[in-house]
Amino acid sequence: MAESHESLLACHDLHCSYPDGTVALDGVDLTIHAGERVALIGPNGAGKSTLLRAIIGLIPSDGDIIVGGTKLTGRTVRDIRQRIGLVFQNPDDQLFSPTVEEDVAFGPAALGCSRDNVVERTHRALDAVGMRDQAHRNPLQLSYGERRRAAIATVLSMRPAILAMDEPSSNLDPAHRRDLIRWIQQEEGCTLLLATHDLDMVAETCDRVLLLSRHIVADGATRTILTDNTLLAAYGLEAPLGLQQLRFRADP
Ligand SMILES: Nc1ncnc2c1ncn2[C@@H]1O[C@H](COP(=O)(O)OP(=O)(O)OP(=O)(O)O)[C@@H](O)[C@H]1O
Ligand SMILES: [Mg+2]
Repeated sequence: MAESHESLLACHDLHCSYPDGTVALDGVDLTIHAGERVALIGPNGAGKSTLLRAIIGLIPSDGDIIVGGTKLTGRTVRDIRQRIGLVFQNPDDQLFSPTVEEDVAFGPAALGCSRDNVVERTHRALDAVGMRDQAHRNPLQLSYGERRRAAIATVLSMRPAILAMDEPSSNLDPAHRRDLIRWIQQEEGCTLLLATHDLDMVAETCDRVLLLSRHIVADGATRTILTDNTLLAAYGLEAPLGLQQLRFRADP
């Protein structure tokens, strides 16, 4: 199937059910272009985490997933996992080495980067999340929020074309949440897909919002979706309290 190379990620009629029969996705259609910053919102159980896991082939799905013109298949899954970096909702799914530094270095080393390049990528990723001084610590001994930041660094070091994050701000204290927002705002070149309930963060970091409820029920500019109280309420969501004061990313 011919796919425009301008679209970096496309899903066509994506369906996903779990072995117990739960239907998590029932026909997701979406297209994301290079450089877009897209939020994926929806109530608990809407299928956000399922969709993120499906697009990197971690769980089976029916329908098409196309990344940079390449269709996800058993043969291409390795290549696609290099293009889409996923930060899991639970950092403990991402950390398995004796030290934070080894966890962050693992991805670039597996990519075949030179030793110097692995070190450079590791340091930059740790700096980005403010974890450089914790590099030699055992991830098991970190606080949940610190583990979350370490998990983000393990994906940043891979320098993926699409950075997908599942609830990146959960369990971060206000200062580290603010650091994360600033970091996302500065990453101008990056294509971002952010599954989150943190709608204030969405306003500050994303240009476009996809509202998911097993399929995409709304797709529009961040301000349009986040100011549609009727739409949000229909899906159990609330507009951020300080919406009038919020600086939308798109604002001049
Ligand atoms: N391993 C599993 N086995 C069976 N059902 C599952 C499994 N994982 C998720 N589900 C179900 O699939 C649906 C979608 O779950 P998912 O975790 O994708 O939602 P979510 O939008 O990420 O929710 P949250 O906001 O709580 O993180 C839910 O009904 C959930 O109960
Ligand atoms: Mg989830």
